[in-house]
Amino acid sequence: MRKFFASVLALGLITSGVAEAAITKGPYLQQVTRTSIVVMWETDSAAAGEVRLTTPAGQRTITAAMGTAHEVLVDGLTADTAYTYTVISGGATAPTGNFVTAPEASSPFMFVAYGDNRDGDAEHMAVVNAMRTVGADFGVLTGDAVASDSATEWQKFFDVEGPLLLSLPIFTSLGNHELLPSLDSIIAGLPPARYKKLFSLPGNGQDAERNYSFTYGNTVFIGVDGNNAAATAQRDWLRTTLMAARANPMVKNIVVMGHHGTYSTSNHGGTGSAQSLWVPLFEQYNVELVLQGHDHTYEHLEKAGVHYVTLGGAGAPLYSQEAGSPDLPYSKKYVMVNHFATIRVDGDFMELRAQKPDGTVIDTFSIGTPVGPTPDGGVVNPPTDAGSRDGSASPSPSPSPSGSSEGGVDPIDPGGSADSGCGCSAGGRGAGTGSDASAMIPLVSLLFCGILVWRVRSRRARRS
Ligand SMILES: [Fe+2]
Repeated sequence: MRKFFASVLALGLITSGVAEAAITKGPYLQQVTRTSIVVMWETDSAAAGEVRLTTPAGQRTITAAMGTAHEVLVDGLTADTAYTYTVISGGATAPTGNFVTAPEASSPFMFVAYGDNRDGDAEHMAVVNAMRTVGADFGVLTGDAVASDSATEWQKFFDVEGPLLLSLPIFTSLGNHELLPSLDSIIAGLPPARYKKLFSLPGNGQDAERNYSFTYGNTVFIGVDGNNAAATAQRDWLRTTLMAARANPMVKNIVVMGHHGTYSTSNHGGTGSAQSLWVPLFEQYNVELVLQGHDHTYEHLEKAGVHYVTLGGAGAPLYSQEAGSPDLPYSKKYVMVNHFATIRVDGDFMELRAQKPDGTVIDTFSIGTPVGPTPDGGVVNPPTDAGSRDGSASPSPSPSPSGSSEGGVDPIDPGGSADSGCGCSAGGRGAGTGSDASAMIPLVSLLFCGILVWRVRSRRARRS
């Protein structure tokens, strides 16, 4: 009789649709390319699942095998196309997310970059909420997503980032804190190993998922492992990867990203092995931009035409500038404040804007030759010498005084990036260079501006 009632109860649970598992992490997006994306999520008990994808041609369903950690490759997609998706797993239905596949090489794009949130939950939440508003195509996290490799901390990371990562694929770098053992990993007798399980990264590196590269639009991104900066094997892989990128005529920009600062005037300072092994390659192959973290501050440095940007302000306790740092001659801007950056890429032009969560811009500079007005009304940088890759225009080249909680903040754009106007007029970029008095220039600029705004708004509309 007891067995009978148990069977009836089990049958009732199944037929009534009661959730058998809860989704505890995600869904979150990884590895977006022109034709594919990876959808991941975790459940609190073993469950099967599926990704229901809405495409311009209709609906597709991709199934996930029984398990608790789910990683589903969704392929066969079309470049620069908007999709929505819903994950159903273990009887639970997740909120619907959306994404846009990577564009062809000639299309402009924009990404966000941030790092070192660790366990600063309130600050992390503020940065995440701000990044959700800027309409980025993907994100770069420069490491130290947690203070240690603890199950509790990783859960907190995904709780805070969940609404962002539902619709924004991110590429991560391995920080030093992801490698710190936590009490639960010590008790379990396991080395810190959650990073590789929680993130899906390109497997084309020299040390699986600790370094890798991918192409987005016309730009090659190279993720390096700063924990192993002294490894000659990684140096050799970096050289090969840079050489291949520069040999490709479609590639206009190279961005390197990693956790440890190659150069830095903050608490940790620069990394000697990276300076001796990586910097000669950065300079030989004309790397435009190096994104880094580890030091909890914003800093823009430049050496030999390579721009190094520390983006360690997503939550961990902030660091002041070191007055005796040997890297001071390279420092162009230092702002000790919580922040993230948007990087807009158009042709060989890149414009970085670092901003506080409230939208206040703390720094902006550009690299390369502008091809038109900024579509969001951003700061106009007049072109430098023809052909120069260095259009850096940080408004305050002197390092800010250290010790201030917001030292050196320049109110460049108190309204932040909320302005969606194109900012082009007779005084805009096209007419403001002073290099061409032709009356056609403002008209051509206005036309080009209109096209750019239409493209950006169309792209954002498809994401919303
Ligand atoms: Fe770190």
